[in-house]
Amino acid sequence: MSEATFRGYERGFQVLEFQQVSKSYRDGTIAVRDLNLRVERGEFVVLIGPSGCGKTTSLRMVNRMVEPTGGSLLLEGRDVTSYDPVQLRRGIGYVVQQIGLFPHMTIAENIEVVPRLQGWSPQRRSERTAELLQLVGMDPGTYRDRFPHELSGGQQQRIGVLRALAADPDLILMDEPFGALDPITREQLQDELKRLQETVHKTIVFVTHDMDEALRLANRIAVLRQGQLLQYDTPAEILRNPADDFVAQFVGRHRLAEMQVPHIVRDIMNTRPVTLGVGASTEEAFALMQSRQVDTMLVIDEQGSLHGYVSALHLAHKRAVGRTLGEVCEQDVAVVGPDEDASTAFNRMDQEHLQYLAVVDEGQLKGIVTRRSMVRALAAAIWGDAQ
Ligand SMILES: Nc1ncnc2c1ncn2[C@@H]1O[C@H](COP(=O)(O)OP(=O)(O)OP(=O)(O)O)[C@@H](O)[C@H]1O
Ligand SMILES: [Mg+2]
Repeated sequence: MSEATFRGYERGFQVLEFQQVSKSYRDGTIAVRDLNLRVERGEFVVLIGPSGCGKTTSLRMVNRMVEPTGGSLLLEGRDVTSYDPVQLRRGIGYVVQQIGLFPHMTIAENIEVVPRLQGWSPQRRSERTAELLQLVGMDPGTYRDRFPHELSGGQQQRIGVLRALAADPDLILMDEPFGALDPITREQLQDELKRLQETVHKTIVFVTHDMDEALRLANRIAVLRQGQLLQYDTPAEILRNPADDFVAQFVGRHRLAEMQVPHIVRDIMNTRPVTLGVGASTEEAFALMQSRQVDTMLVIDEQGSLHGYVSALHLAHKRAVGRTLGEVCEQDVAVVGPDEDASTAFNRMDQEHLQYLAVVDEGQLKGIVTRRSMVRALAAAIWGDAQ
């Protein structure tokens, strides 16, 4: 029988099924054990569990980077082994934590790898790249001809995601894609990804070991332990009815407990935002942004008063050698007081599309409220918080 072509690009992915899938290695390690899982078109499924539980192995069996030793994986009702592996991989987007951009290729060339293999015309590729960069708020004129090392960690990871989307596959596999990013950039990318998935209707299988991330993104969560599936349910159901003690423990502080609504900003803020002093240079800011992989940071003076913020983007535009952050920072930081009402703060973030609010008390920077704080507090309000 000749190998079938996976038509993920042309026909539309329908369903992915793991049927009693196992993977064992020669040394006796059983990475995955009798896994049964069904992923429907348009779903956002998150595989979660501790290190070594078989998440990556499960993901890589989908695009045949790892072959199962038992059971079968069906794509559109056909065993994945009946597809040509090269075609199959081109038809499935794949994003990993290490980003893996080609360092000597420009951003556009990186994004266009698969479209080029598919024989798209230069014009079509170029239009697609511009469209994708705009989707994540990166100006094509500014970024398309840059090289990966000229981008922040968060920007590089965005390009990793765009590359997986470039040829418009319906199924995308993501293995801890945001694992190396700082909290703000990470949340920003999570929001972007969620929004992308809601607008372009991709089916996504996403691996993480961060329950916050799973709760933010998933339609359904699969909890794995030692190669076995413990529970496969909606986030709400996992929070409400963990299948066993392990799941309950893994869900941890999100668990159902007494109603405990945090009322004020102080209760929910993160007290350690990334900051730099007003006297720091733009070069120092770039260096710190690169090493901490952040896109923006708050600028404070010696007394801890908030002066403003700088973002990699506007520093790049203003690349003013020899000037201090005090001179170049933007001042329109959205600010909230620590004793203000938490739900009012959340509403404001929502309405004004803010990524974060700086918490300031008598001029002093006390912390930061991010969308993650919001998700945590809402989860706690709805389901209670074990702590
Ligand atoms: N080539 C291999 N040979 C032997 N054992 C392997 C091999 N690849 C993976 N394993 C083992 O299989 C198990 C599952 O590995 P896997 O990479 O799927 O875990 P994971 O859930 O992705 O973990 P992490 O969160 O650390 O990435 C681990 O015990 C791992 O050591
Ligand atoms: Mg892994």
